[in-house]
Amino acid sequence: MQDRYGHRISYLRVSITDRCNERCTYCMPHELQEWLPREEVLTFEETLRLIRIAAELGVSKIRITGGEPLTRRGVLELIRELPRIPGLHDIGLSTNGTLLVREVETRVTMAQALQTAGVRSVNVSLDTLDRQVYSQITGRDLHPQVLEGIDAAITAGFHQIKLNAVLMRGRNEDQLIPLIEFAAARNLILRFIEMMPVTTRKVLDEENFISTIEAKRRIESHFGSLMLEPAFRTNGPATYYQIPGREQRIGFIGAMTNLHFCESCNKLRLTCDGKLRPCLGSYLEFDIMKPLRAGASDQELKDFFLDVVDRKPEQHDFRDNYKPGRKMIAIGG
Ligand SMILES: C[S@@+](CC[C@H](N)C(=O)[O-])C[C@H]1O[C@@H](n2cnc3c(N)ncnc32)[C@H](O)[C@@H]1O
Ligand code: SF4
Repeated sequence: MQDRYGHRISYLRVSITDRCNERCTYCMPHELQEWLPREEVLTFEETLRLIRIAAELGVSKIRITGGEPLTRRGVLELIRELPRIPGLHDIGLSTNGTLLVREVETRVTMAQALQTAGVRSVNVSLDTLDRQVYSQITGRDLHPQVLEGIDAAITAGFHQIKLNAVLMRGRNEDQLIPLIEFAAARNLILRFIEMMPVTTRKVLDEENFISTIEAKRRIESHFGSLMLEPAFRTNGPATYYQIPGREQRIGFIGAMTNLHFCESCNKLRLTCDGKLRPCLGSYLEFDIMKPLRAGASDQELKDFFLDVVDRKPEQHDFRDNYKPGRKMIAIGG
């Protein structure tokens, strides 16, 4: 699938729930904590059908996300089906990490079960190494579980584990070097993400926003000039750099300040309530659940996908006073 601006769509991010066991300030507004009723959420059967159709249209990479995807009952059953879909080569999962260490059977952690089920790469959110600050950001005192979850993921032997840290002034600007050292000690890829205005609550303003440019400058004042690695890509929008004198790579996701951010976009999003979104930072979303539940044929659903791709904007609206209609937790980050 290719849109009118030359974006080739090969990556579908699939949110399987709007629910979460954390309450991150930048993702989930405190005043709005209602979950979708179950009947408004795609069943696994419906989700798998849409993923299969996307794969037939050229999607080769899937990332399961949420909300917190590991809070959805039966998540492993869904994931076990994914490797059977022809054309899917890369199955990833984004998680807050809190449930990775949980035992799903005797002496089998969730992380291990996910790896066995076919998950190749895992992204774990970790904004800080400070337990107290972690609790302030996420509204939950689950930092020790996340650290154990990261260890469980390492033990499980995923092909790739990435750590994602959202940059916030007053919260984690002092954590850049500690997080880099934490990732280095475990041989993990760390990415710093600019906060995006994707919650209905005002959490993003000039006072708490840290650009990736500033973060890079701070890191360079510690390590020296970072070396750009244009050839290294992980299918996402990050720009990667090598730390001088080390094998270590770190990434920056500068949705707000990088004017070329959207040029290589290869993504579509499917929300848990069956909306196809051609862009995270745009109001556009198209209800594919309706035709799906009305008995549409595979061909009709394929045409729906192609139509959505055709409407993919050239770039996101974040810089133009974007006011989200949905909170991030209900889009699927
Ligand atoms: C919405 S979460 C869903 C998966 C999982 N619950 C987690 O926390 O990783 C996916 C990613 O989006 C990021 N995120 C959420 N709100 C954001 C915002 N306003 N700006 C930038 N990143 C955000 C989170 O930090 C996380 O890395
Ligand atoms: S960022 Fe992830 S962990 Fe935090 S509230 Fe959103 S979905 Fe939950």
